[in-house]
Amino acid sequence: MSNDISLFEQATAAAAYIRARISSAPTIGIVLGSGLGAFADKIADSIAIRFAEIPHFPKSTVPGHSGQLVVGMLDGIAVAVMQGRVHAYEGYTSQEVTFPIRVLKLLGVERLIVTNAAGGIRPGLQQGDLVLLSDHINFTGRNPIVGEHDERFGPRFFDMTEAYSKRLRILAETTAEREGFYLGEGVYLCVLGPSFETPAEIRAFHALGADLVGMSTVQEVIAARQMGMEVLGISCVTNLAAGIQRELLSHEEVMETGRRVAARFTQLLTALIPAIQKESSRA
Ligand code: HPA
Repeated sequence: MSNDISLFEQATAAAAYIRARISSAPTIGIVLGSGLGAFADKIADSIAIRFAEIPHFPKSTVPGHSGQLVVGMLDGIAVAVMQGRVHAYEGYTSQEVTFPIRVLKLLGVERLIVTNAAGGIRPGLQQGDLVLLSDHINFTGRNPIVGEHDERFGPRFFDMTEAYSKRLRILAETTAEREGFYLGEGVYLCVLGPSFETPAEIRAFHALGADLVGMSTVQEVIAARQMGMEVLGISCVTNLAAGIQRELLSHEEVMETGRRVAARFTQLLTALIPAIQKESSRA
């Protein structure tokens, strides 16, 4: 990312590039985590723009994160779907990791659904479970707001008490119930990665109050909250965390579980997005 122009101006340029290629401004944004990219196929009248094409956008290097922005319609609602994301462990700064979220906001996105693959820490969680994030623990030592302050993105000091909207969580729980499955809630702890955790780390995270562990989402949610977006977080438990499951952890397992859960995950999002739109336009 070049330093010649401010982050805000870079995001403005990226948003202008995207706006010139789409017909309706999206109000709901979705970030698809590892193995969960198939949902983007549900988008009608879609335009896919590769991250690499968009000015100042970071480029994903992880297999399974195809790295494109899909903008189109779901049930008559304009949505913007990030099929893939970049992670701090790829060498990106927090500002780079959250750049697409800044751009989504400038495009008109007010509500953001962030999804991820996570390791299950809390006893009782099972591989394949979908869990709503009730809160997070930022264990990365990083924060995307660090640096020169630009009021155009929002305040420097802002509240994180209800980072994950209670209203959207209730809506997600009732939607899931209607679709015939149960969605629990949990606290997501974010590590830098890319090595998986040691069993001692997982025991420590459990003592700290974490139910899930992963390598994404938290930076994005901090940036989204600064800009006043309403956030819903969903983890797919792709594996039980280190020391809890007997088998060794692997990226292949994470991807494989994501694919296995994809149909249920897609069913949930397909029902949830119209419910969010309906509820929000009534509010
Ligand atoms: N740890 C960290 N990140 C992850 C895991 C895990 O066990 N599973 C999927 N993403």
